[in-house]
Amino acid sequence: MGAAAVMAAALAFSAQAQDAARGAALAEARNCAQCHGPRGVSDTPIIPSLAGQQAEFTTLQLILFREGIRRVPAMVEPMRGMSDQQIEDLAAWFASLPSERRADRGPANPALMARGAEISAGRNCNACHLPTYAGRANIPRINHQREDFLEHTLAEYRDGARVGTDTNMNGLMNGLTDGDIRALAHFLAHQE
Ligand code: HEC
Ligand code: HEC
Repeated sequence: MGAAAVMAAALAFSAQAQDAARGAALAEARNCAQCHGPRGVSDTPIIPSLAGQQAEFTTLQLILFREGIRRVPAMVEPMRGMSDQQIEDLAAWFASLPSERRADRGPANPALMARGAEISAGRNCNACHLPTYAGRANIPRINHQREDFLEHTLAEYRDGARVGTDTNMNGLMNGLTDGDIRALAHFLAHQE
């Protein structure tokens, strides 16, 4: 399935009822918490938190994993045999969990904050992710996320190692150095 077909499929079943309670039971059965943490807050380096994530974004990413388009070996087994309805239920469950500022985030580094803010303003990150960086619909929440995951995934977009539903993020990371990406991740992780 190509990215356009993924979007079409997602729109086609967005009319169906999602059931967060069914999603909670499935998350338990498939042990999502083993990697993504209890109640969707990840305690594991480079593994994203899912709590309070936009349901449409989570749905699309799970389809990309299932179809082998976004390639993450650790996500192959959890997605095996998953139906579209089950994916929607999981997305509804994680969207319903509270998203909060991480308890373990360190103090903000002023130089990194300034550089991150400059890049974010220059590349209009908040035009899509919103001024709070909480996202909407297919655009993910990027505040409250693990800083190490943000850094890792932004570098993957830049290097063409992460494939999404479109290529906007790959283009947006063009020309940024590792230091720039580190600053951006730090800045995003320190938003309220
Ligand atoms: C063995 C560990 C493991 C298990 C179990 C696991 N995941 Fe993941 N998951 C990962 C890793 C690793 C990533 C991606 C990190 C990356 O992009 O490099 C990921 C990414 C994701 C993402 C993308 C989030 C984002 O912000 O980009 C979603 C959604 C997700 N997993 C949902 C689930 C669900 C739902 C389950 C249970 C059905 C599950 N995962 C089980 C390891 C796991
Ligand atoms: C044109 C709209 C748009 C703009 C501008 C934009 N983004 Fe995104 N962003 C998206 C979409 C859509 C996705 C999901 C794409 C996919 O399927 O991988 C995304 C994904 C992400 C992710 C992955 C989050 C996760 O949990 O997996 C990060 C981090 C991110 N964007 C950061 C940024 C930063 C930093 C900027 C500014 C440099 C930016 N974005 C600008 C639309 C945008």
